[in-house]
Amino acid sequence: MARWVTVMRVEELPPDRPVTVRVNERDIALARCGEGGAPHALDNRCPHGAGQLGDGTILGDDIVCPLHEFGFDLHTGIQRDARTGRVAVYPARIEGGEVQIDAEAVPPLPEDPDADYFDWWARRHDEQEPVGDRAPAAT
Ligand code: FES
Repeated sequence: MARWVTVMRVEELPPDRPVTVRVNERDIALARCGEGGAPHALDNRCPHGAGQLGDGTILGDDIVCPLHEFGFDLHTGIQRDARTGRVAVYPARIEGGEVQIDAEAVPPLPEDPDADYFDWWARRHDEQEPVGDRAPAAT
């Protein structure tokens, strides 16, 4: 795996709002601090209630969650107000006009412990004959 992966051209990264990119199948919020400053990459999932930080706003050096407006420092990921929450930050840089994220620093998503159950349930559902009121009319 390449260490630095390109996620977009630098001119595609808005100066005033975050975007969401994907690295190692994990959603990453990408935002610039200040007005058009350096790029910062943070885990997209807000630790408070799973708001999507990539859909939030930028306020100074903070990324602000769209759900309850908690602010997280773009440099450290620490929740600005209460300092009780924190999101992971990943190294990001601009190289040759491209915005890059250090993929080795982005852990893969944990396996879903329910994946086997949901696969089983989907197969079971597909294999069953419709019953009761949901049965199609005979033709
Ligand atoms: S979910 Fe992000 S502040 Fe509540």
